Amino acid sequence: MTTILPHGGKLINRLVEGQEKEQLLEQAKQWKQIPINTWTLSDLDLIAVGAFSPLEGFMEEQDYRSVLQDMRLANGLVWSIPITLALDEAITSELTIGEKVALVGEADQVIYGILEVRSIYQIDQNEEALQVFRTNDPEHPGVAKLFGRSSTYVGGPVQVLQRPAPEKFGEFYYDPAQTRQIFADKGWKTVVGFQTRNPVHRAHEYIQKSAMEIVDALFLNPLVGETKSDDVPADVRMRSYLVLLENYYPEDRAFLGVFPAAMRYAGPREAIFHAMVRKNYGCTHFIVGRDHAGVGDYYGTYEAQEIFSNFTAEELDITPLFFEHSFFCTKCGNMASSKTCPHPKEQHLTLSGTKVRALLREGQCPPPEFTRPEVAEILIEGMAERITQ
Ligand code: ADX
Repeated sequence: MTTILPHGGKLINRLVEGQEKEQLLEQAKQWKQIPINTWTLSDLDLIAVGAFSPLEGFMEEQDYRSVLQDMRLANGLVWSIPITLALDEAITSELTIGEKVALVGEADQVIYGILEVRSIYQIDQNEEALQVFRTNDPEHPGVAKLFGRSSTYVGGPVQVLQRPAPEKFGEFYYDPAQTRQIFADKGWKTVVGFQTRNPVHRAHEYIQKSAMEIVDALFLNPLVGETKSDDVPADVRMRSYLVLLENYYPEDRAFLGVFPAAMRYAGPREAIFHAMVRKNYGCTHFIVGRDHAGVGDYYGTYEAQEIFSNFTAEELDITPLFFEHSFFCTKCGNMASSKTCPHPKEQHLTLSGTKVRALLREGQCPPPEFTRPEVAEILIEGMAERITQ
């Protein structure tokens, strides 16, 4: 097995199998049926498989308040993002502490899991927004989500009876126990995790490969849960990752597996969260580039790196690898960053996401120094499919 321990020391497993599952399912049918949306379902599943270790359920009040104030769980462990279950008053007013309820998919009525109600509490959305997102601007996609939910939270341990089935690319879904085993089988002692919600452009490739120079392997771990509507859809991205890996990465040193979580757009705090979760998947290193998990101009370019200095190396127990803004320099004739390139901005090829999307929509490839042509072709195809749908 890989040497790195999961966050908190042990990999949480809240999946129920076999006879116990059948029995619990029968019981759960008699309990209150609480509808949950896709986002909450993805959190539930990630808790169950240990991706969110040491969490065993949705946060109770003490942990929630501690995470908000100190970026730690009540027991002191580093944790930066609240993982919570928000339920309408009409539901919570009927709940009692100690009761068990069934968590049911809003869309398909399937009983996915059960929750033991240990804590019912009111939160201040404005405070949560300011602490987690550093803004209460309702235009921020994470803040908008938060403001659109109930401000009554219900916490307690969960058990999962049914896993949500992936719609596409099911073969790239691995639970943390599986990735840990795979990394060990491959003999990788050091693995760098890469979070992305975008196609892999040349700048991403550059920082990944710079990291690969110093570790055994890359775990390309794109987030495929809920993202905002103008992000490139996950299935198009998956096709683009596959073609890129096939053509430009050594097969025995790069591994693709998805991260089926929702994107929070919480910038710095999400960078910490992303790192802890990748540790649970077995990564020893984690890449944090410019404006990690950011959106618009809510966060400074390197705030998601600076936040790591709040914690000691021991308590993080995964090594963050920080990268400066990277670009292709026409004068150097290669990828570079301000750390390695002496030339002025005019020599640097940088394109905004909006500009790249506009080019792709018109069926035009961005320059190969920005995006590999094989990747661009897939993105153009993907854009065209969306338009004709
Ligand atoms: S994120 O929301 O998932 O962070 P994105 O997929 O764009 O967005 O970024 C993935 C990772 O690459 C993040 O760590 C981000 O900081 C980094 N990154 C993206 N573009 C660059 C760039 N041009 N230079 C350096 N790092 C970058």
